[in-house]
Amino acid sequence: MKFAFFDVKPYDKASFDKFNGKSGLEFKYFESHLTEDTVDLAKDCTGVCVFVNDTVNKTVIDRLYKMGVKMIALRCAGYNNVDIKNCYGKLHVFHVPAYSPYAVAEHAMAMLLTSIRRIHKAYIRTRDFNFSLNNLTGFDLHGKTAGIIGTGKIGKVFINICKGFGMRVIAYDKFPSPDCGAEYVPLEKLFAESDIISLHCPLTEETKHIINSDSISKMKKGVVIVNTSRGALINAEDLLQGIKERKIGAACLDVYEEEADVFFQDFSGHIVSDDVLARLISMPNVIVTSHQAFLTEEALNNIAETTVSNILDFNKNGWCENELCYRCGSIEKCKKDRQQKCF
Ligand code: NAI
Repeated sequence: MKFAFFDVKPYDKASFDKFNGKSGLEFKYFESHLTEDTVDLAKDCTGVCVFVNDTVNKTVIDRLYKMGVKMIALRCAGYNNVDIKNCYGKLHVFHVPAYSPYAVAEHAMAMLLTSIRRIHKAYIRTRDFNFSLNNLTGFDLHGKTAGIIGTGKIGKVFINICKGFGMRVIAYDKFPSPDCGAEYVPLEKLFAESDIISLHCPLTEETKHIINSDSISKMKKGVVIVNTSRGALINAEDLLQGIKERKIGAACLDVYEEEADVFFQDFSGHIVSDDVLARLISMPNVIVTSHQAFLTEEALNNIAETTVSNILDFNKNGWCENELCYRCGSIEKCKKDRQQKCF
């Protein structure tokens, strides 16, 4: 079974290479994203292996199907970049639902602490032998209120971390879970009472721009917004405006709505044409990491192992635990028995 890997970085290769050439698997690595222009690289392949910023729209799906490609193995959890509906009846889609919720939740806290204790500023100062403390005053997390939107695997770990810091934790989730460890409140109350808001819900039509000028107007002055989920949860222009108006105290962004053309690449010698991103990065109270939250050794190993076992399970049994099933109405939790697949 030949698989075309798109958007491959050296760390992907390192974690997947141990499976290459074994159990009948052969991997072809490509640095380019999967797009309408690059889809033909998957010629003669059984499947494609894609990541968060690959484009898997109707045109790409139809082209893959025409070429005889049978599987799309996502080496990530989120699948908002895949038109699952259009895959139905054509391609089987698998994802890696959990590889390390700790990696992402810990990164969210790392960004939060860096931001509110001005570690990013202090690091640069002391490297230049500037030991002044002026303008480095932070605030305690202890006793503050953290508002968590989305209390799934990552949200729950982040709730625990916040509780470890002695914070009051409130949460909102469209589908509350009995063991989330925080008090569920309506979204309006979460906006009004949180000192820190951390986003851990998926990107859907409902959650797109959940942080916008209207929701920002309902927040506390000085609120810190942390986004390690998906960029389009935040309207970046509204966020920028909120920062300029001093309403938002800080923003920690591991994801950005228009990240696809920028993140994961080295633009250090270039002029970045995205003015909103450039302005955000120029702010002293904004920290941007390049969709890095998942990047731990544990997560990379789990991603490779689960992706490979998804492919092998499907090949052996004709079904796979982590198949995304549009037909059943609930994409991740097939209402049918997993073994009676929809197609
Ligand atoms: P999960 O599926 O375990 O949890 C998502 C939670 O969001 C669920 O409890 C769900 O009920 C809730 N939710 C769904 N619709 C909602 C809505 N309209 N409003 C509020 N809550 C809603 O997912 P997990 O593993 O916790 O991941 C969360 C997100 O983190 C993923 O969707 C993905 O976008 C992002 N992610 C980012 C990574 C990074 O490197 N920055 C790595 C992995 C995931």
